[in-house]
Amino acid sequence: MATEITTTTGTHGTPGSEWWRSAVIYQIYPRSFADASGDGIGDLPGITSHIDSLAELGIDAIWLSPFFTSPQNDAGYDVADYCDVDPIFGTLDDFDRMLEEAHSRGIRVIVDLVPNHSSDQHRWFQEALAAGPGSEERARYIFREGKGANGELPPNNWESVFGGPAWSRIEEADGTPGQWYLHLFDSSQPDFDWNNRWVHEQFLDILRFWLDRGVDGFRVDVAHGLVKQEGLPDWTPPAESNSMGGGLEDEAEEAALSPYWAQEGVHEIYREWRDLLNTYEGERVLCAEAWVDPLHKLAKWVRSDEMHQAFNFGYLETKWDASALRTVIDDSYEAFHSVGAPSTWVLSNHDVVRHASRLAVTADNPQGDGLGPRSKGLPDPVIGLRRARAATALMLALPGSAYIYQGEELGLPEVIDLPDEARQDPTWHRTNGERYGRDGCRVPIPWEADAPAAGFNTTGESWLPQPSGWGAFARAEQRGVEGSTLEFYRRALALRKEHNVGLGSFTWLQHDEPEVLVFRTEGLTVMANTGATPVPLPEGADVLLASADLDGDTLPGDTTVWLAS
Ligand code: GLC
Repeated sequence: MATEITTTTGTHGTPGSEWWRSAVIYQIYPRSFADASGDGIGDLPGITSHIDSLAELGIDAIWLSPFFTSPQNDAGYDVADYCDVDPIFGTLDDFDRMLEEAHSRGIRVIVDLVPNHSSDQHRWFQEALAAGPGSEERARYIFREGKGANGELPPNNWESVFGGPAWSRIEEADGTPGQWYLHLFDSSQPDFDWNNRWVHEQFLDILRFWLDRGVDGFRVDVAHGLVKQEGLPDWTPPAESNSMGGGLEDEAEEAALSPYWAQEGVHEIYREWRDLLNTYEGERVLCAEAWVDPLHKLAKWVRSDEMHQAFNFGYLETKWDASALRTVIDDSYEAFHSVGAPSTWVLSNHDVVRHASRLAVTADNPQGDGLGPRSKGLPDPVIGLRRARAATALMLALPGSAYIYQGEELGLPEVIDLPDEARQDPTWHRTNGERYGRDGCRVPIPWEADAPAAGFNTTGESWLPQPSGWGAFARAEQRGVEGSTLEFYRRALALRKEHNVGLGSFTWLQHDEPEVLVFRTEGLTVMANTGATPVPLPEGADVLLASADLDGDTLPGDTTVWLAS
């Protein structure tokens, strides 16, 4: 079937060291994972009570989205106290207990750090409002005078990622219209001024606080946004670029990059953080959420003295298409290897349409728009799940680290028909419903079919309504059931570990059918058929994993297999 061709990739590292190079990390979105208190919002005791399910799944670490004190205007990404737990999620003691339970099962724990902005309810911002223009307190954030005769126009034309202007005007203490402050996201999320050393010191303290408590690392929110270009010049994004700074593939466009994403100055910040992490025992890590294209530019975030991982969103955004996948895999290895870093694969998270739906959407769907009843090209759920499993089997066979998002191991689709009045994402509200936003991937996950809130809690409350039929995806329904998505994930993770795939080598094999990808890694041959036409399996193939039922000796469309080789 195949002739070997030159590979652009090499091997990734030595087993047993640098766990983050090969780890499979499970993202917990705490408000939707498990709700022990029964108030309809998940919490830390809920996570602790289900930690055995995660150990059983076979993951190496968990990353928790924010559970810190917050008014929850952006589901906790608006932090009002970086060193405490919001009462809706529990207490610091609950965190310690959860951490201990995870560690005792060999599961590492990464927390989310949100350094680009705080909540407007943070003491630092409240003090800045009270202290007035020109004060030290105002200098923590980006306050400017407005333009126009009476300062009635924003200081520049920047737009919020969530829609609408990126500036809001405050009322000064004496009740007069005052300065404007920058918020790249919601108006309740003022951006810090990272030119101010005071801000650096606060965040070093925050890192120490969590490192001293024993966390294994940080996922760094908006890691490409902290530093803004001097003078804050006007800028209009090119039409084809998405709202998070992606989509700029062409060098010329890259040169015209925005004045707020991917500024050189951010790297100095991470070098200082890395130095701090290196003073701690164990390998504590930093993972960048940086929507930066192209991949060789993203690779700057993972140079050896900066972060350890950066989500490979270029891969996430690639369609289910052999040629596009092959290109992005090659580009990834080339870019990350050039700085000695692993690629950090990911297909779903709390910001994107779940891949069990996304891979079957038939119209353009820019990141952040979400899906709703009026969206174009709505996915066929059967095709979506089939492709999602095939895409997962492909991803988990690739050397490097991988993140999986809670519920994908259950095959959860995006919830498309959430009632308008239930939607909570600021994107939905700031665009008056023009963009659905991200609620559809955040619906509380099902544990048991016939329990209140599908086992999310015992009261039946749920901060976003679960759709009818959600119980069919419940973990208890899939556990031990041959062919279920849950058992498929468990098997893939076990085989990945057994074959040490994460640290393995990688070699493409040529296949006659352009819609089929074939590669070899660590005693495995992986075949992914992204087309619709079945192709023969190699003679005598020993199938170790299949993302769907096989039809005799053929590999059907939208299916991936791992073969012993
Ligand atoms: C990141 C988070 C997203 C949040 C935004 C602002 O992109 O993943 O959920 O809304 O930052 O903090």
